[in-house]
Amino acid sequence: TQQPVNVTVTGAAGQIGYALLFRIAAGHLLGPDVPVRLRLLEVPQAVKAAQGVALELDDSAFPLLAGIDIHDDATAAFDGANVALLVGARPRTAGMERGDLLSANGGIFGPQGAAINAGAADDIRVLVVGNPANTNAYIAAAAAPDVPKDRFTAMTRLDHNRALAQLSARTGAPVTEIERVTIWGNHSATQYPDLSHATIGGRPALEVVGDDAWVRDTFIPTVAKRGAAIIEARGASSAASAANAALDHVHTWVNGTPDGDWTSAGVVSDGSYGVPEGLISSFPVTVSGGVLTIVPGLEIDEFSRGRIDASVAELVEERDAVRALGLV
Ligand code: NAI
Repeated sequence: TQQPVNVTVTGAAGQIGYALLFRIAAGHLLGPDVPVRLRLLEVPQAVKAAQGVALELDDSAFPLLAGIDIHDDATAAFDGANVALLVGARPRTAGMERGDLLSANGGIFGPQGAAINAGAADDIRVLVVGNPANTNAYIAAAAAPDVPKDRFTAMTRLDHNRALAQLSARTGAPVTEIERVTIWGNHSATQYPDLSHATIGGRPALEVVGDDAWVRDTFIPTVAKRGAAIIEARGASSAASAANAALDHVHTWVNGTPDGDWTSAGVVSDGSYGVPEGLISSFPVTVSGGVLTIVPGLEIDEFSRGRIDASVAELVEERDAVRALGLV
């Protein structure tokens, strides 16, 4: 029988944690045959709540769940980790300046990156969910010089899934027929959900939709601002859909993308598509043999160019700010 895979989840007592942990234990992260050991990391004042979640995980009698450890110390939590889901972050509160937000998160993701560097397993794969996800991933990667940079990723899979759902609702095509949708740039309102390479049942999506104004004025802002719409409706930020996207992201990273299709993920730029090397930006990505590859050679039209550049400019500003603050 297979050795359990160590999955470290930070922010385990939070909303996303509650939606995520049960599904990991049910086999939705790595597959129905892979036992997992959960390592939960929380701040000291939330350890008790995490213990409560662990009681419920116990009560679910998941056949694949090989054990649960709870930590308030990053070094212990990441020791031997194969998969790290960095969910816990410092949220932006009313009146908070960007510098304060980045500093507070630098104080979380820097030490967590260092702990991953010190003790994670050689095959470590890191997904940053906590916002600002791209820049938090950048900070964590910078603090882990011995870990290959391509093991640090930021989540834009929720945006990708939102784009699939919006396009499916508009055209009536099932999501399974939609391929090659891309989210570019930052996981923020500047992101660019791009349909210019997408296909529906093999036909160009833009042709099937036949309404460029809808794409520009409805589709793009609906996807980019969906997080705010969820908060407005639910009174709390998206949690189950975010957890679902985190599972999708890691599942794809381990198991690969289908032939002819790709996914979206925040990955370290190699300079492709004019995105400065080293930034963690969302790209169209294929996966084979557990390795993420930015889809090469796509034609970028003028509209797309402007949208990608605008979101990447925001990432450059965030990177420059964390440099100026001495966080990397
Ligand atoms: P939440 O506030 O319910 O839970 C966050 C948890 O993280 C809390 O239990 C808190 O104690 C914990 N935490 C804070 N600092 C920590 C640290 N240093 N180590 C370990 N745990 C720590 O928040 P929720 O709803 O679970 O969201 C978590 C993050 O995910 C937020 O930053 C949110 O903005 C982000 N998010 C990202 C999405 C994406 O698409 N990339 C989508 C939805 C949310």
